[in-house]
Amino acid sequence: MGSQWSRDKTYLQAKQAGYRSRAALKLKEILKNNPVIRSDDNILDLGAAPGSWLQVIREITSGVIVGVDLNPITPVEGTKTITGDFTSPLVIAQIKEIMPEINGILCDASPRLSGSRSYDQARAIDLNVQALKIAESLLKQGGNLIMKSFQGEDFSSLYNRIKQDFYSVRTYQAKTTRKGSTEIYIIAKNFIGNGPDLPGEDENGHA
Ligand SMILES: C[S@@+](CC[C@H](N)C(=O)[O-])C[C@H]1O[C@@H](n2cnc3c(N)ncnc32)[C@H](O)[C@@H]1O
Repeated sequence: MGSQWSRDKTYLQAKQAGYRSRAALKLKEILKNNPVIRSDDNILDLGAAPGSWLQVIREITSGVIVGVDLNPITPVEGTKTITGDFTSPLVIAQIKEIMPEINGILCDASPRLSGSRSYDQARAIDLNVQALKIAESLLKQGGNLIMKSFQGEDFSSLYNRIKQDFYSVRTYQAKTTRKGSTEIYIIAKNFIGNGPDLPGEDENGHA
């Protein structure tokens, strides 16, 4: 895996199966090895465009599925989408309105790359921290989180924070990840409890 040929093969496989991007096969692989979505789970997908993860999630659960992205997402049947920045209190308020209960959060968000490795790494981890804050505030006790991250500076402090929030945490490197990439998925299972630390909210959870 990882050669140009295999990358193209993955892309073609995804397209032939009707998925919007090769990321669908990555999520399928992750879930095959870490089956964390139950058949009635409500799932929030952060950084969801163009929507291939939403397609995969819909195949698994009949619960409420919401995808959030800066870019508009062409509708995926059986899912709802929000166009906006998931770090903004306005978007978080919209999520809360649509989803009274969240059993799982998936985050495949990546910042737009600048070309500076250390700057991009810092922004990626910052995005991870924002997604984690959403999980800490909105995820139901016992819920699960799958989050894309990148190995490098500050990864271990992020990982340690997640370990404090969930009973079981591991990393998973997808076979379909491009060779040489530092991309890694964090699989966090069984959320311990809720915290108030959400952007734009006070310690009582008020915006
Ligand atoms: C790799 S793509 C996600 C692919 C998606 N999982 C799929 O299967 O179609 C990463 C996405 O993260 C989104 N993103 C990055 N920062 C974001 C933010 N703060 N709020 C919402 N979306 C964000 C980008 O717009 C981009 O569409």
